[in-house]
Amino acid sequence: MKRLGVNIDHIATIRQARKTNEPDPISAIGMIELAGADSIVMHLREDRRHTQDRDLEMARKIIKTKLNLEMAPTQEMIKIALDIKPDTVTLVPERREELTTEGGLEVALNLESFKKYTRLFHDADITVSLFIDPDIDQVKSAHRAGADLVELSTARYSESKTRQEQETNIQQIINAVTTAEKLKLGIAVGHGLTYINVEPITRIDPVAEYNIGHSIIARAVFTGIGHAVMEMKEKINQR
Ligand code: PXP
Repeated sequence: MKRLGVNIDHIATIRQARKTNEPDPISAIGMIELAGADSIVMHLREDRRHTQDRDLEMARKIIKTKLNLEMAPTQEMIKIALDIKPDTVTLVPERREELTTEGGLEVALNLESFKKYTRLFHDADITVSLFIDPDIDQVKSAHRAGADLVELSTARYSESKTRQEQETNIQQIINAVTTAEKLKLGIAVGHGLTYINVEPITRIDPVAEYNIGHSIIARAVFTGIGHAVMEMKEKINQR
């Protein structure tokens, strides 16, 4: 069974649009888990544009599956993560101006820093995932850094404009997956995946985990969060 991680940041995005107390991402967690999600993903950003510290603290207390905290490896976030103790941290690059995470980490050129981060989290019993572009050198570097898994960015794949471009991007993901598998790294994918474009990715067998946010929350506006999660869980396991 392929695992589905549901990113709930966009529930907080709607709440923060009015700086009020609804919708509360915390109220959604039980429903998302009941519908078949294997983990809840939250990204605490430096500018707190969606998820707030309070959300993370409450989520940690009520999540029955796993909490995957996406975060930039800054001093502030590392301190928060060591305090909250999520099951997994997914390290991501972060730029204030971006609408959403753009591109993967540069692990290869910052190997010593990433070795330090993974050691720090492993000492606290936290699994470490590195969000990288589907690039063989980055996969090898993530392995050298001691990561448990890699989350391969599907951003470029999901932005493909033509069939040819899509094929090229899928091939890059397959090449990165093959390398990660040889190195015995866990393999997740995420970013820009939708009910429409996820199917070709589900044919890449070693991909064990899908982390999806925007498309699920967008569909939930019409169908309810339970249906939206169930449908995506079925889609990633349809083969
Ligand atoms: N994985 C990572 C590392 C991300 O940064 C994001 C976006 O927060 C996602 C997955 C989910 O992407 P989307 O919202 O496009 O499904």
